[in-house]
Amino acid sequence: MSKSLEKKFKEFEDRSKAAEIGGGAERIEKQHACNKRTARERIDTLLDPGSFVELDKLVIHRCRDFSMEKNLIPGDGVITGYGKIDGRLVYVFAQDFTVFGGTLSRANADKQIKVLELALKMGAPVIGLNDSGGARIQEGVQSLSGYADIFHLNVKSSGVIPQISAILGPCAGGAVYSPALTDFIFMVKKTSYMFVTGPEVIKSVTHEDVTKNELGGAMTHNTKSGVAHFAAEDDVQIMMMVRELIGYLPSNNMEDPPLKACSDDINRREEKLQKLVPDDPNKPYDITELIEAVVDNGGFFEVQPHYAKNIVIGFARLGGRPVGIVANQPAHLAGVLDINCSIKGARFVRFCDAFNFPLITFEDVPGFLPGTLQEYGGIIKHGAKLLYAFSEATVPKITIITRKAYGGAYCVMSSKHIGADVNFAYPTAEIAVMGSEGAINILYRNKIETEEDRKKIIDNYQDTFANPYKAAEQGYIDEIIMPRDTRPKLIQALEMTENKTETTPPRKHGNIPL
Ligand code: HXC
Repeated sequence: MSKSLEKKFKEFEDRSKAAEIGGGAERIEKQHACNKRTARERIDTLLDPGSFVELDKLVIHRCRDFSMEKNLIPGDGVITGYGKIDGRLVYVFAQDFTVFGGTLSRANADKQIKVLELALKMGAPVIGLNDSGGARIQEGVQSLSGYADIFHLNVKSSGVIPQISAILGPCAGGAVYSPALTDFIFMVKKTSYMFVTGPEVIKSVTHEDVTKNELGGAMTHNTKSGVAHFAAEDDVQIMMMVRELIGYLPSNNMEDPPLKACSDDINRREEKLQKLVPDDPNKPYDITELIEAVVDNGGFFEVQPHYAKNIVIGFARLGGRPVGIVANQPAHLAGVLDINCSIKGARFVRFCDAFNFPLITFEDVPGFLPGTLQEYGGIIKHGAKLLYAFSEATVPKITIITRKAYGGAYCVMSSKHIGADVNFAYPTAEIAVMGSEGAINILYRNKIETEEDRKKIIDNYQDTFANPYKAAEQGYIDEIIMPRDTRPKLIQALEMTENKTETTPPRKHGNIPL
């Protein structure tokens, strides 16, 4: 090989190596000491081995203020490209905290924008691995413009391709709004946090003392704010969870979620379900036991398991076909509908509708939660979100009432009246305007003289309404089924609704009560 050729090849190798070591050995060590993987290590853990194709490895920033022209690191603090998860194409960007704290420059934003645009054009999910000090201060408005362009693309891509964010370090200021616009947020415990203003600003404005972790750590956003959907112990666990989630999702809104060969008997009857719903209507039971007993091989990927536990949401497969599950949880606050669980349920229903997941609803709900906190907090508009979401969804909708379906909650939880395709009820179902105690207090206020009379009236009310037969007589329930038959009945209903088409009147978009 000639000297000049050798020199050219060496230059390419040197430049490539410089990009690969990012901020250098010392900063990489610091990253590891904080129990954080580097951006490259994270990508390697996330994607199928050897599948990553890097783009824009040699991009440098264009800032000439603050002597930044003397500090150029190829790649400029973000690694971008595409690769595969279980053989399926995904796009990825990973902010590199070892380079300028992973902060957003204009050049670095352009790299992220390139993968977002490619993902949208090619119809594949995009996964953002966030670990960044936010806007690069030296770049001023250039950096802000980069953020705003990313936000705009997030919104354009919403409902077209799945967008997933993993928060693996700091995520502060406006930088939280790109993850907030995506479909699912994963956070790692102890090393990640998200907030609009940090503890110091809060201290100076409101005099509150709060640590970074209390303010915006993984469990804060998984239990209190509902901003995040998943929490993991470390970077590796997050990557495994993202891979599992991707396995359920279609690549874009024009595809159906991917079928998987089903090794679980589609006609399997579950005898233990006959006893799951207790005789006593006030006794709780765990709805996840029912879900896990009926779905393929007990596989339920729960979303937001730590937040608003009175509703359970998540993905599973039935006969190999991915479905979205929404279920009231009688084991938490009796499964009542409140503000937080309505918002949690509504957002999930809309995701499922956008990405062609049939919706399976398990219903056992005593109604909406009474109280001034709920009313002042706007339960009217937040509860309406869930109603709106179920009502506008045009995917197959299958509902099973296991026990209580009272009042407005009966209407909201994917009832026949708001477009459900198949409505089942167990013989234990109670479909009424309200429970017997409440109803009797209103109907017979001051008119019941003895306890014996009261008991008689309650028994009479229960005989009349605490069952599914009045609804079945009207055709609001298509079929009353034995609990043991839930799995085969659901799979049959999914087959029947497989080619559902529903047209809606043309409009720009509806006006969901936000
Ligand atoms: C430029 C930054 C930076 C920033 C960190 N660095 N943040 N450089 N702009 N915003 C640099 C540091 O100077 C340092 O460089 C390296 O990144 C690592 O930072 P450290 O502070 O040493 O790390 P650590 O102690 O782990 O603290 C991390 C941190 C802290 C918590 C993120 O750096 C921090 O608070 N940064 C500022 C965060 C912030 O307020 N960002 C702006 C948010 S407003 P050297 O060379 O020393 O290694 C925003 C607006 C967006 O983002 C609006 C969109 C609409």
